[in-house]
This record gives sequence, structure tokens and C-alpha cells, in this order.
Amino acid sequence: MSKTKTTFFCQNCGVSSAKWIGHCPSCGQWNTYVEEVVQKETKNSRLRLFTGGKGGETANKPVLLQDIGLQEHARIAVPGRELARVLGGGIVPGSITLFGGEPGIGKSTLMLQLALRLKNLKVLYVSGEESEQQIKMRAERIGVTTDSCFILQESSTAQIFQRIQEIEPGLVIIDSIQTLYTEAAESSPGSVTQVRECTAELLRFAKETGTPVFMIGHITKDGAIAGPKVLEHMVDTVLQFEGDRNHIYRLLRATKNRFGNTSEMGIYEMQGEGLKEVLNPSEILITQREQATSGVAIAATMEGNRPILIETQALVSTAAYGTPQRSATGYDLRRLSMLLAVLEKRCGFRLGMKDVFINLAGGLRVEDPATDLALVSAILSSNEDLAIPQRVCFAAEVGLTGEIRPVTHIDQRIAEAEKLGYEKIFISSFNKRGYNHKGTIEIVACTRIEEVFSALFG
Ligand code: TYD
Ligand code: MG
Repeated sequence: MSKTKTTFFCQNCGVSSAKWIGHCPSCGQWNTYVEEVVQKETKNSRLRLFTGGKGGETANKPVLLQDIGLQEHARIAVPGRELARVLGGGIVPGSITLFGGEPGIGKSTLMLQLALRLKNLKVLYVSGEESEQQIKMRAERIGVTTDSCFILQESSTAQIFQRIQEIEPGLVIIDSIQTLYTEAAESSPGSVTQVRECTAELLRFAKETGTPVFMIGHITKDGAIAGPKVLEHMVDTVLQFEGDRNHIYRLLRATKNRFGNTSEMGIYEMQGEGLKEVLNPSEILITQREQATSGVAIAATMEGNRPILIETQALVSTAAYGTPQRSATGYDLRRLSMLLAVLEKRCGFRLGMKDVFINLAGGLRVEDPATDLALVSAILSSNEDLAIPQRVCFAAEVGLTGEIRPVTHIDQRIAEAEKLGYEKIFISSFNKRGYNHKGTIEIVACTRIEEVFSALFG
């Protein structure tokens, strides 16, 4: 006699519970538990679980580490430098990548572009969301022609594997994992059990055949990839596509990568003909002005191993209401409060009763502490209503006592600033020590904010 087993899963974080509960103890969400059929238990299903499939004859044997030969798995070259950089080189054979992002951000577009541009590789693009016609229209918009890209509109994994056997593609793209369903699980597509089971099947396929798989995944309101957290543990790489839908720039980041660095970032621009790579981000992130304006300072930041110059803007004005407002776009609000407290307490600038708004250009989010000095300078510039000269930039962290602290990769930051025609860069004196610079850019080494202030505004 087979017995149907069900479990309740939190649809937000994937935690399971034997009983229904209203408030998830793991993620704190309310009313997210849904009952799902886990498996139809048959008499010997348990037995199979322990014997590794068919009674153990196919089980792997332990091998001495020194005896394992490193087969040089050539990575598949990716057309496009930004994606290649984020992946840490090309696509690793047999790897499985989860690609998340908000609806409408451009996930399908980026994946279709990849499929169209991989000319010497057979690609199977499986879509459970859009019709063949819709994909064709998008491909026309992108304007790249290829004769090695197959489109399959399907959501049953059994059918998909059948087609894969016929076509034998070199890369499989799934759009999206939430639309797939497998016979092995009973619940509806998009549920935690289905998503996990389908991923497990794709994972097995990727590892057994060495075919790389990209899966698009939707994300929930609070930015996590929908479905269980275990999904992120199962895959090799997790990519995130971010950006403001109202801005044209999109950022591609790896939040997990078994084959590369996670600090790299790719920048794209959404255009009429699909996503275009931004290869010189510093140039577009700085507004070209006729004359210098107060409240603007340029920060020499690092995103991964790439130096980027970003415009930081600040607006300081007398509070219109009793409580002063603080608002930050693209920067941590708590860090802004900290910088304001340092300016107030350590440096004697009266900002306590002022509204302070800051903004980083292009909808970018920056976590590099080297942005501190540029922000502080922009705030002071707006407060004094005195402009910072245009060809000046900053790269230093600000400490709690108002000291200017050194930052990493100073040589790369200075080189980028020089390349873009900057004439002066403010850095920490600690960075200046032991650094001998040969270029033409003037390096101003400071130890305290007051020094920067008098060097800028006299
Ligand atoms: P899409 O790739 O469908 O997003 P996702 O799969 O992440 O939901 O992208 C949708 C948006 O991109 C849509 O609002 C239209 C816009 N877009 C362009 O601006 N230019 C283009 O060439 C394409 C294909 C889409
Ligand atoms: Mg899509």
C-alpha cells in the first residue's frame, strides 16, 4: 500500500514543518505555509534511499586525492566581456548557474543574447513563460542571427530531457525554474518541492553529461531567489541582475561562484536592441558639466578588481520641518549617519539641524568605504555652497575620529583617475607612504578632514 506524504513549506524561505503554522520561525513572514505532497511512499522507497539506487553496484568508490587526474575542462568562451568576468572566465562544462532578478529587469533578454551569440555551440533555450513567437520577436529586436539556437516551449522536465537527448545541446537555458514541473513531485509548479526537485534533476543531468545549465529564477519582494534557500546551495553559481527598472543601467553580480571571484561586477545598458555592455563605466557615471557645481564630488571606487570613478552628490539644506531628514540613494544610510556624526562631533561642522540627501549616479549601490571622503566632501561643498573643482577626485575612508584612512588598490584607483584626465586626487597619508607615483596627477595626502576642507575651500 502506498501512502501519500505531505509537508508544509514556507513559500518564502523553504523551511518545512509537519504542521501548518501561521508565522514562519525562520524568515518571520506570516501566512506563507502551504501543504505540498512530498512523495508517494511505496514499500521499498525507503530501502532504495539507503542503498544508493540500484542496490549499490553503481555507487562511487573512494579515491585517493593524489590519484585524481585533473582533466583540463576547457571553459566555453562567452561572447561578451562583462558576463565572462562575472563568471570568472568562460562557462565551466557541467556547471549549473542560477540567474535571479526582479521581473522585467532583463534576465530573459540577457540569456537570449547569450544563446544567440554562442555561434559555434548548440544552445537549447527552454521557455515556460513565453511563446516561440514572443521569443522570436525578442531575437529580432536584439538583431543577431544564428543557426544553432533551438527554442523549446515546454515545462515538463521529462519532455525537456527527451528533447535534450534528440538535440544534444552544448548549453541548456531554462526560463524559468519556477515554471518547470516534474512527475516526481506532486505539488504545483513554482512550489518549493517542485522547484527543488526540478533543480535536482537538472543538476544530475549537468553533472552526468557535462552540459552546462543556466536557470532563470524569480525573486521575491525582499530580493531573495524564490523557492528554498537550498537552491542556492545546490547550484555552482548564483548570478543576480540588479538595477532600477527606471534607470537604463543593469548590474550583474555573482553572489556565489564555485569557479571564480564574487566581487566582480558587470554593467549593462538596456537599449532598444537589448542589453549593451558598458565597458568604460567611469565615463558614463560622471556627468559632463560646463562648470563645477556645489555638492558634487568624484569618488575613485573599486568594484571587484576594476576601478570605477563615480559621481557622488549631496544636498544639504535647512530642515523644513522640526526633524531633519537624512536620505541616501545607493549608499548605506547608517554609514551616512556615522559620517554626519563625525563631521558634527569631531570636526565642528553644524549639520544637526540640516536635511541631508545623498545620491550616487546611475542607480549604483556602492559598498566600497573609499567613497567616504568623496561623500564627506560633497556634503561640505553643498553646506558651504562652494564647488569642488571638476578635475579633482577622492579615494579614502573616514574613521570615527575624523581621520582619513588608507584604502586598498590605491595604485589602480590613481591610475584610473589619471587615465580619465583628473588632475588631483585626495588620499590618506598612510597610502602615500611607500607609494612612489610616476604619473602627472597631483596626489594630495591628508590625515584629517579639516585638512581636506582647507585644501578645497581655503
Ligand atoms: P525581460 O528580459 O523580459 O525581463 P525578465 O525576463 O527579467 O522579466 O526584459 C523586459 C524589459 O526589457 C521590458 O520592459 C522591455 C525591455 N527591453 C528593452 O528595453 N529593449 C530590448 O531590446 C528588449 C528585448 C527588452
Ligand atoms: Mg523573462
